[in-house]
Amino acid sequence: LREHEEFTKVKNIATIELGRYEIETWYFSPFPPEYNDTLKLYFCEFCLNFMKRKEQLQRHMRKCDLKHPPGDEIYRSGTLSIVLKQVDGKKNKVYGQNLCYLAKLFLDHKTLYYDVDLFLFYVLCECDDRGCHMVGYFSKEKHSEESYNLACILTLPPYQRKGYGKFLIAFSYELSKKEGKVGTPERPLSDLGLLSYRGYWTRVLLDILKKHKSNISIKELSDMTAIKADDILTTLQGLDLIQYRKGQHAICADPKVLDRHLKAAGRGGLEVDVSKLIWTPYK
Ligand code: ACO
Ligand code: ZN
Repeated sequence: LREHEEFTKVKNIATIELGRYEIETWYFSPFPPEYNDTLKLYFCEFCLNFMKRKEQLQRHMRKCDLKHPPGDEIYRSGTLSIVLKQVDGKKNKVYGQNLCYLAKLFLDHKTLYYDVDLFLFYVLCECDDRGCHMVGYFSKEKHSEESYNLACILTLPPYQRKGYGKFLIAFSYELSKKEGKVGTPERPLSDLGLLSYRGYWTRVLLDILKKHKSNISIKELSDMTAIKADDILTTLQGLDLIQYRKGQHAICADPKVLDRHLKAAGRGGLEVDVSKLIWTPYK
């Protein structure tokens, strides 16, 4: 037990207040030392500055002039009032750092990046007359050697299981398509991350296979979806849709098997309306 305790850093902040939510945290996050003895932190939901006392937050809210995350709006869907902002970690360093501190409270295995300069943050919001409220985000390296198209992804607990995770994942692949590259999430994936990715990959691939039957290769699937070939292969193997013939992997999509998987795959969730994405790759 001792040994185990040494490896498991104690959770420091137990709860946070963010907008109209009080949220229990999941994991340790390395906030600056002056927050070490703090059980609850108060976040400004717009600039993500955090404070030890409620009165400090109230005072802050009177003078904070943000009503949404900083950065450039790259997506807006009117009906759901959903907005996605791209925040450049170099231009909005403090915001990027605050976001990383906040995210680490819900991400176990990720190391915290202090070098937010190298990342873009895609922050998803639900908007109403009080402002744009952060729902979740993903980060993306400006330049990835390993063809990562997503570094960290988080849906804040009050908003989980509503399809926002898969929406953000879909979004990361839409950006890759615009870049003309294939992408893959940074490893390792958490359990919930893996479930969400597997769900997304399964849904996307089954929909295409349903149309094309077996007359399509993994390479073609990869070109169409921007999903890395390895991820396609493991997903289809998991669905028992791959046969190994003459030293080659071949897709073997029996219509009955496809239908069974499609039924089990459940709801598609929120769709990304590509016509509403206004974005050019980072240079
Ligand atoms: N129990 C079982 N299955 C779950 C759960 C759960 N609590 N949460 C998600 N899933 C699965 C389901 O299959 C779900 O699809 P379904 O609802 O159609 O069945 C699928 O994951 C995705 O659900 P979404 O609602 O689209 O995803 P959500 O908004 O909840 O976000 C996310 C998923 C981002 C992984 C969220 O759980 C989270 O933020 N977790 C904490 C941080 C984390 O682990 N991030 C991933 C780390 S890996 C990386 O960053 C590269
Ligand atoms: Zn603020």
